[in-house]
Amino acid sequence: MAFCKVVHTPEMKEAAKRNKEVINATYKNLEVSDNLKNLAKTRSYFIRTYGCQANVRDEETMAGILEFAGFKKANKIEDANIIILNTCAVRENAEDKVFGEIGQLKGIKRKGDDRIIAVCGCMIQQTHIVDIIQDKFRHVDLLFGTHNIDNILNLIEEVYEKKVRVIDVESKMGEVIENLPTTRIDPYKAFVNIMYGCDKFCTYCIVPYTRGKERSRKMEDILKECQELVDKGYQEITLLGQNVNAYGKDLQDGSSFALLLESVAKLGIPRLRFTTSHPWDFTDEMIDIIAKYDNIMKSIHLPVQSGNDEILRLMGRRYSSEQYKQLVDKMKAKIPNLVLTTDIIVGFPNETYEQFADTLKMVEYVKYDGAFTFIYSPRVGTPAAKMIDNVTMEEKHKRFDELVKTVEKYAIPKAEAYVGKTLKVLVDGTSKKNKEVLSGYSEENKLVHFKGDASLVGKIVKVKIKESHLYSVIGELVNE
Ligand code: SAH
Ligand code: SF4
Ligand code: F3S
Repeated sequence: MAFCKVVHTPEMKEAAKRNKEVINATYKNLEVSDNLKNLAKTRSYFIRTYGCQANVRDEETMAGILEFAGFKKANKIEDANIIILNTCAVRENAEDKVFGEIGQLKGIKRKGDDRIIAVCGCMIQQTHIVDIIQDKFRHVDLLFGTHNIDNILNLIEEVYEKKVRVIDVESKMGEVIENLPTTRIDPYKAFVNIMYGCDKFCTYCIVPYTRGKERSRKMEDILKECQELVDKGYQEITLLGQNVNAYGKDLQDGSSFALLLESVAKLGIPRLRFTTSHPWDFTDEMIDIIAKYDNIMKSIHLPVQSGNDEILRLMGRRYSSEQYKQLVDKMKAKIPNLVLTTDIIVGFPNETYEQFADTLKMVEYVKYDGAFTFIYSPRVGTPAAKMIDNVTMEEKHKRFDELVKTVEKYAIPKAEAYVGKTLKVLVDGTSKKNKEVLSGYSEENKLVHFKGDASLVGKIVKVKIKESHLYSVIGELVNE
């Protein structure tokens, strides 16, 4: 398809705009044209998702919309008539993977077939990426952004009917759209968006530009969705937001994360989790509610990013290492058996070895159960990307290895301490390699493998742990 219809292209300056206006939810009734219904009858789709749970949830919405129109899910990417790559922009290696995949998909198109290749998600919210795909990857038929998901049926219909490439990527503060159909990937564990976007603008991070303004869903809409999940027999809900502590503030109606968390816990879902919590604004009330309800899991992800005050300031994180430690102390004192994990960035521009050593000290202090560790990756258009950086890549890799060792110094003994204990495991499914082996996550968010019957999938069972590995533990089913 040679001709390209450009409806909107992304604009980072627009994407960074914020105002204080309350964003009211739009309750949408999707309509499908007869033409598209006919096309859908004989066509299938496949979505490949990269990145975080926000993208997983977007995949579920897109799948819901496509199935609502009549498209069927294909089992394999190469069998699908509509292929959608749902991308992540958080680090360069995430983007490289997507470019590799787009390149590979070129071979899949046959002359004369009307297969559509679409790319969406956070990567596409960046001007330079849209330019690259438009120029160099001419087999991509459709580009749309994170703000255009509700319109995907119209975009697909346009590509089919007019036989043009279409680019529609809006950069705006964003909306809250309710009532869109959804096809959940998992029948027992569900992600529920409580808010979208991010207003923190940490200086290294692309997310506020790709996802728009921090905007909360109304509490009644969230509770309705959670109640439906409880009624369907779901065992676990994870409340999602880039910074869940900020939930409700924008609504200016008294809603808060503490209130929401308590209200969802009271619905009686067996397991309730949330992600991600920013250390800034983690209130005492939130801690008390986490401690009070048995069905709120005591495993909390609390990204620290750095243990050095100057680096934290340059990152725009809004807390000091001391404040972070005080928060951790308070949480540990009030929440018995707390499991703490974190995110850490190594090699922020001009980070000295001494500053990096403060991060090691933080790991020593908190003794995390686990950590996601990243080498800083400059993101076009963010303030940190403009900083001149005097730290070599070789030095960053060395520090990264040292950090991983320090994390493991505490994480391994913590995993070993599970040996001999009995954990409650929500069974996800059977192992790909061995049908007799089941796997699932414990309340502590530990991956557990054990032998058992497939009929246990979706149930919470007790497993006595016999062996520990870094990322998983192995145990035996306890028969009651
Ligand atoms: N909203 C979440 C983070 C989402 S991104 C929060 O604030 O906790 C997940 C993680 O990716 C971040 O915590 C950070 O550690 C990492 N990350 C984000 N931007 C990055 C960059 N430019 N380079 C390296 N790591 C980055
Ligand atoms: Fe990115 Fe910071 Fe927002 Fe997390 S809080 S998404 S790291 S800007
Ligand atoms: Fe990636 Fe976008 Fe999530 S950049 S981490 S998919 S919000």
